Amino acid sequence: MEDLRKFDVIVVGSGIAGLSFALKSADNGYKVAIITKKDSQESNTNYAQGGIASVTSHSDEVELHVKDTLEAGDGLCDRSVVEQILKDGPKGIDALVQKGVAFSQLEDGRISLGKEGGHSKRRILHVKDMTGKAIEQALLHSVKNNPLIESFEHHFAIELITVNKLKKSEQVSKELNRVLGLFVLDVNSNQVETYEAKAVLLATGGIGQIYQFTTNPSIATGDGIAMAYRAGANIKNMEFIQFHPTAFYSQKRERFLISEALRGEGGIIRNFSGEAFMHRYDSRKDLAPRDIVARSIDSEMKQSGVPHLWLDATQIGLATLQKRFPNIYNYCEARGIAIEKDWIPIVPAAHYLCGGVMTDLNGESSLAGLHACGEVACTGLHGANRLASNSLLEAVVMANRGADAIKSYLDKTEPISLKSIRWIDGDLEISDERVVVSHNNEELRRTMWDYVSIVRTNKRLERALNRLNNLEKEINEYYWNFKVDVRLLELRNMITVSKLVIECAQKRQESRGLHYTLDYPQKLEEAVDSIIAKQIK
Ligand code: FAD
Ligand code: SIN
Repeated sequence: MEDLRKFDVIVVGSGIAGLSFALKSADNGYKVAIITKKDSQESNTNYAQGGIASVTSHSDEVELHVKDTLEAGDGLCDRSVVEQILKDGPKGIDALVQKGVAFSQLEDGRISLGKEGGHSKRRILHVKDMTGKAIEQALLHSVKNNPLIESFEHHFAIELITVNKLKKSEQVSKELNRVLGLFVLDVNSNQVETYEAKAVLLATGGIGQIYQFTTNPSIATGDGIAMAYRAGANIKNMEFIQFHPTAFYSQKRERFLISEALRGEGGIIRNFSGEAFMHRYDSRKDLAPRDIVARSIDSEMKQSGVPHLWLDATQIGLATLQKRFPNIYNYCEARGIAIEKDWIPIVPAAHYLCGGVMTDLNGESSLAGLHACGEVACTGLHGANRLASNSLLEAVVMANRGADAIKSYLDKTEPISLKSIRWIDGDLEISDERVVVSHNNEELRRTMWDYVSIVRTNKRLERALNRLNNLEKEINEYYWNFKVDVRLLELRNMITVSKLVIECAQKRQESRGLHYTLDYPQKLEEAVDSIIAKQIK
């Protein structure tokens, strides 16, 4: 182990946001570290199916994309942010194409454009139904060949080091609070190392794992948001959790996504009686925005007490299903479902976080030296509900904008040496009682699913908060007394972000977008963000 690792900028996360930012920063001449907690490709990005929304055809207009995004966002989007990010969309697509992403084409050579809920036009670029994997592979290839970028796989970012945390030291006593680096656990050696940089970019993705059922892979534990919150950065709109309407139902916990793009090609949701019921809930039927479709499914399931509904994709035809959706086709086939003739069992599952670390259009958080982009960040693009396939776009656009904007900060900022700063571990060895960690993990996920999901009430939120407070007490005891490991650190972060979700949900005394509560079913006239700032002593 080296004593101290020094970089201009440290990127935490190797999905579309982290990789795009690292590449652009290296192009700008900076020395970059990418810290990532598993293999580099393991990210939400790698599983993205439907594609990336952007205006690329003559029959579409940025203004229409803006209108659709604002409508989905239910009054809470920041219009200027929406306009800027969507205007920059085609540049973001170009950046991906230049890195080697080969978007699917029609037979005549034009780009194939898919359609998803809430979009008034076909505008989703995709690589069959494996868009994320293609993006991830292309970006990782470029990163591997870049001499200014060093990647640290199986390295877990634990905590931001800030001036305030070092306040006893002479060296920093006159400095304003800012981020100076990170404590990172090398998972293979089990050692905590100190990383120094002028700035840190959080690109740690979402929080799906706080729910019992989610489309997200195991990395999505909200680490970045929890770290930023503990360091004192503002956190925004955490109550807006998007539940994807159509995840594959099985008896197991796994929830494989059945892309909305299938509905874009004619797929229909049916209830247990076989009725195509969405017309009863919204005139856009199966292609209404996700909050509406997920709530409608939830209501149909509750009325009839069934464990799942159906997605009927039989009208799409075998040839298109196999060519356009090979990933979904093969997944279902391996489970005995031939989707050209059989209906697919579906349920909603936690999918995407619209809130996160509050940033401006440069990716800057409220804490100097801390930047965020991708799903971990809340720019104001999504408002109360994200329009389908706007997240990959936001991530690539904001990563490129952020990497350019950070230049002036890096150039004018003097690093503070962290040479004498060491992580102090609890002195107890890994305990047999670590079963507490897995038990508490189960309890957290079940609590969030049962009390803080698609339909909420004051009572359910209060119940969830009480349980989380108990879990927090127990886990904090472990954190301070035992040597840290990934499962403990993730659980601690999951408890922190779950409490932030509940706190924001309790603040919002109305139903808007993805936050629906039986106690306040109406929408208030004024749309106000929920912002949480931790009091740093
Ligand atoms: P991620 O891609 O999730 O990357 C996060 C990275 O941070 C990972 O490398 C992770 O290991 C790392 N990390 C996290 N915590 C730590 C830590 N403590 N230390 C070190 N590393 C850490 N969006 C669309 O726009 N279109 C789609 O078609 C689409 N389909 C989707 C399908 C599925 C199944 C899912 C789950 C999501 C989908 N989304 C889609 C959403 C979209 O994929 C994500 O919002 C986006 O990929 C997030 O990218 P990101 O770079 O912000 O984070
Ligand atoms: C999907 O393919 O349905 C997911 C798209 C998204 O989450 O934006």
